[in-house]
Amino acid sequence: MSQYPALRLRRTRTTGWSRNLHRENRLGVEDLIWPMFVTSGEGEEPIASLPHVSRWGIKGIVAQAREAVTLGIPAIALFPNTPADRRSADGREALNPDNLACTTIRAIKDAVGDDLGVLADVALDPYTSHGQDGLVDDAGYVMNDATVEVLAEQALTLARAGADIVAPSDMMDGRVGAIRGALEIEGLVNVQIMSYAAKYASAFYGPFRDAVGSRGLLKGDKRGYQMDPGNAEEALREVALDLAEGADSVMVKPGLPYLDIVSAVRAQFGVPVFAYQVSGEYAMIEAAVAAGAGERDALVLETLLAFKRAGCSGILTYHAAHAARLLGG
Ligand code: PBG
Repeated sequence: MSQYPALRLRRTRTTGWSRNLHRENRLGVEDLIWPMFVTSGEGEEPIASLPHVSRWGIKGIVAQAREAVTLGIPAIALFPNTPADRRSADGREALNPDNLACTTIRAIKDAVGDDLGVLADVALDPYTSHGQDGLVDDAGYVMNDATVEVLAEQALTLARAGADIVAPSDMMDGRVGAIRGALEIEGLVNVQIMSYAAKYASAFYGPFRDAVGSRGLLKGDKRGYQMDPGNAEEALREVALDLAEGADSVMVKPGLPYLDIVSAVRAQFGVPVFAYQVSGEYAMIEAAVAAGAGERDALVLETLLAFKRAGCSGILTYHAAHAARLLGG
């Protein structure tokens, strides 16, 4: 008798219908969160380091929000490019109920209501003249507790404007608890907190900083509060803290280079975990496409599916609208 393999794992891979039937993880439109940038200007402002992504005026953003609904995308994430004359050392514009973020949230909510979730970032970097996420002392140190007080107020301001999810992206200690307390006192009990729980001091945020206009302003780096890329155990401690403080879901950021963290968080906590495929990751894919090194549709779908395989409940990605179209949304 001839030698033969005891089990042929290739058998189920032979045909398309069988591959479909045996696929363990799937990507759907409902997994996507679409980040977008709003400007106080009128029209479209392309972002050179983020090909095919633009800042839009409020009208344009509302149109994109409607498109998200049409495509079946459940939520968007909103980032303002604050006018230069509204940035200050203390970032006080973040607390202005009529700032660009709040005005845009109200316009979107008026247009689409509960057909679309709106996630608003909580951090001071789009508002500070120094580009750091918090209040800085004379030595340039980002002060934790003083910043947390302002962030709680910022989160309230965004929630009052209609944000469905507030997402602290600052990495101060204790901010989730402070935000949750502030929301409770105000009676905003159903506003969700998606914490950027494991956010790394990454080289992949460059194009984002162009998009919100903070790259040229940033003095120093963010390694004094964002996590060291060498750490994994610490990510689990961050997640545990944020959950204990009242986070509804947690985020890992960046995405692809940190899928091990996603997987560990999922395994250890079994809570909703999201990942942010950040601007530099997006730009890398676009650069690969432009260089003829890969095919966009395939790269997008494969990378997004990898997030699902790692255990993500959903993915923030600048490819959201494109992926939704590919997925038949
Ligand atoms: C602000 C914030 C950043 C991103 C999301 N929120 C940049 C940073 O921390 O410097 C990055 C997102 C991206 O690169 O796409 N705190």
